[in-house]
Amino acid sequence: MKKFKRYLVTSALPYANGPIHIGHLAGVYVPSDIYTRYLRLKGEDVISICGSDEHGVPITLKARNEGVTPQEVVDRYHAVNKKAFEDFGIAFDIYSRTSNKIHYETASDFFLKLYNKGEFIEKSSEQYYDEEAGCFLADRYIMGTCPHCGNENAYGDQCEKCGTSLTPSDLINPHSTVSGSKPVLRETLHWYLPLDKYESWLRKWILEDHKEWKTNVYGQCKSWLDQGLQPRAVSRDLDWGVPVPVKNAAGKVLYVWFDAPIGYISATKELTPQWEKYWKDKETKMVHFIGKDNIVFHCIIFPAMLKAEGSFILPENVPANEFLNLENDKISTSRNWAVWLHEYLIDFPGKQDVLRYALCSSAPETKDNDFTWKDFQARNNNELVAILGNFVNRTLVLTNNYYDGKVPARGKTDPNDNSVLNEIVRLKENVEASLETFRFREALKEAMNLARLGNKYLADAEPWKVIKTDPDRVKTIMNIALQITANLTIILEPFLPFSMEKLRAWLNISLMKWNDAGKTDLLKTGHIINKPGLLFEKIEDTAITRQIDKLLATRKANEASATKIVPGKETVTFDDFTRLDIRTATVLEAEKVPKTTKLLKLKIDTGLDIRTIVSGIAEYFEPETIVGKQISIVANLESRKIRGIESKGMILMAEDKDGRLVLVSPADKVSNGSIIK
Ligand code: MF3
Ligand code: ZN
Repeated sequence: MKKFKRYLVTSALPYANGPIHIGHLAGVYVPSDIYTRYLRLKGEDVISICGSDEHGVPITLKARNEGVTPQEVVDRYHAVNKKAFEDFGIAFDIYSRTSNKIHYETASDFFLKLYNKGEFIEKSSEQYYDEEAGCFLADRYIMGTCPHCGNENAYGDQCEKCGTSLTPSDLINPHSTVSGSKPVLRETLHWYLPLDKYESWLRKWILEDHKEWKTNVYGQCKSWLDQGLQPRAVSRDLDWGVPVPVKNAAGKVLYVWFDAPIGYISATKELTPQWEKYWKDKETKMVHFIGKDNIVFHCIIFPAMLKAEGSFILPENVPANEFLNLENDKISTSRNWAVWLHEYLIDFPGKQDVLRYALCSSAPETKDNDFTWKDFQARNNNELVAILGNFVNRTLVLTNNYYDGKVPARGKTDPNDNSVLNEIVRLKENVEASLETFRFREALKEAMNLARLGNKYLADAEPWKVIKTDPDRVKTIMNIALQITANLTIILEPFLPFSMEKLRAWLNISLMKWNDAGKTDLLKTGHIINKPGLLFEKIEDTAITRQIDKLLATRKANEASATKIVPGKETVTFDDFTRLDIRTATVLEAEKVPKTTKLLKLKIDTGLDIRTIVSGIAEYFEPETIVGKQISIVANLESRKIRGIESKGMILMAEDKDGRLVLVSPADKVSNGSIIK
C-alpha cells in the first residue's frame, strides 16, 4: 500500500436547510470521524473538513415558504448543525460555510481560472421561465411528470421515485413550483463543463486505477461512464449563490454543485495558511466521505473540475455509504420520519456513544440498512453494558477492592494468559486493516472482540473465587485484565470517544498513541487508578416504547394528512347534472396500448352502441381481468384521439388516497345502457 505523508478527510457539506438526523450520521459523519480519530491516534498529519452547503434551490424554496431571507435560513441551520456535530464528538478541524467571503473568492477564482483556460462551453439555449414570478425555473423550481416512471411529482433535476437524474426539458407537463403556472421558454446564456472531454481519462482513472473502491461506488461510476457523459451546465439563473464572475452574467450564479465541493478548498484555506500542501501535493491522501446520492458529484464532476483546473490533487478514495432506513421506512424530513440528533440528546442525555455504536454497527456500508429502536436497545444492553461495561467495571472494582487501586505485578503467566496477551496485538491489527479499507462495522466488531476477550478471560479465571486460595495468581489475572482495559482506551477511542475519555480518567491515564495498542505493560506495576463509575447503563423497555410510540404518532399524523378529502366543488344546477349522459356498460375486449404503461384500449357495449374507449388504468388492471365487468361511463363526453385511437367517452373511476384507481360498477347487474341518475 502506498504510504502518504498527510491526509485530507472531507465529509459532505450538509445543506443548511434542515437539521441533521441519524441517516446523515450513520452514512457520512460517524465513519469520517472514526477514520480521522484513528489517523490522529497514529500521529498522522490529518485534517478533517466540513461545513454548511448554503446555496441551492432547496434553501431558497424554504426561505420563500417561510417568508424569510435565504441568509436567515442558513444562519439558523448552520448554527444548529454545527452544534449537533460538536455534541456528538464529530471532530472536524473546521466547520465552515459556503456563504463565507473566502468561499466566494475561492469559488469565483476557480471558475475564472477554468474560464480563462477556455475550459467551458458558453451556450445560449431556451429554458423554462415563470412569467408570473419573473424567474427562470432551474432544478427544484420546476416539477412535472417523469418521462421514465410517470411520477407526476418529479423535480427538474431528479425524479425521487425512480432516481433518474433529469433536466427541466425532460419533464412532461412542467409547472413552476414558485407560482404553479405553466412556464414558457426563454433564451438564456450559460457555461457548461464538457464532461465528455474527460470521459476517457475518467474511465482510466476510476475503472482501471481505482479498482479498490467500494463496489457500490465503482458500480455507480461505471454505469455513468457507460451511459456516456455530456456537457453539464455550471451556472444558473438565480439570485442566491456565488455570482458568475464574468461579463454578461448579471443575475447568474454558480450551480450549487459547482460551488459546494470547492467549499472543501475554501474551508481548508480558512483553517490553515498551509492549505496548499493538503491540496496540491501528491503525497496527500484525500478521502471524501459521502452518501450514495453524492457519488457522481464526487467521483466524476468534481474530479473533472479539479483536472481541468490542473493544480489540485484528486481523491484517493470515496467510501460512499448507502442509505439508512428507520423502522423499515425511508428517512424523510418532510414526513418527519427521522431521529433528529438534538431530539435524541433530550431523550438520551449523555448517550452519544450509544448512538454512535448502534449506527456504526449497522451502518449501510454495502446496502441500505435499517435502524430500529429494538436493535438500538439490544446493542446497548447486550453489548455495551453486558460485555464492555461489565468487563471494565469488574476489572476496576476488583483492583480497587483487592489492591486499593494499585496495579498489581504480573507473576508467572500460564499458556492461556500468554495467548490472551498475544490476541491483543492480533485484534489491534485486524481493526487497523478494516479501518484502512473503510470497513467500519467490521473494525468495530474486532475492537469489541477485545472487550469480549477480557470478559471471557475474567469469567474463566474467576479471580473472585481464586482470591481465597491463591492470591498471588489473582495479581497476575488482574494485571492482565488491566492491560486489556488500557488497550481498550486506544482501540475503542475512534468509535466511543466519550466513554473512553471516562475510562481513561478512571484508569488515571492520558490518551496514548495507536501504536501503543498491543503492548502489555501500558499500566505499570504500582500505578494508581481511580474509583470507576458505570460506563453504560441498561436502557429499559419503557424508553424504547416511548420512541416507537413517537414514530407511530408520526405515521398516524402522516396518514391523516394524506387522507385529507379533496375539498368539495362548487354547486351545480340540476340541469348541469342532467346534461351528463352517465350510464352502465360492459367491457367486451381489453388490450394494452403498445408502448405505453398506463393505457388500455377497451371495447365496450353501451346499450346504445359498441364503441372504443381508451383509459389510463393499465397499471391497475390486467386486460383479461376487466373483460366482462359491468362499469359506468360518461357516454356523451366529446370524443378525442389518444395515441392515434379515437376514444369515445370516459370510464368512471374512484381514486383512492394512494392514487389507486377502482372501477365504479352498479351494485347489482342491470342491462347495459341503464341511465345513472
Ligand atoms: N449538500 C449536499 C447534500 O447534502 C452535499 C454537498 S457535498 C459538497 O447532498 F461536496 F458539494 F460539498
Ligand atoms: Zn421517475
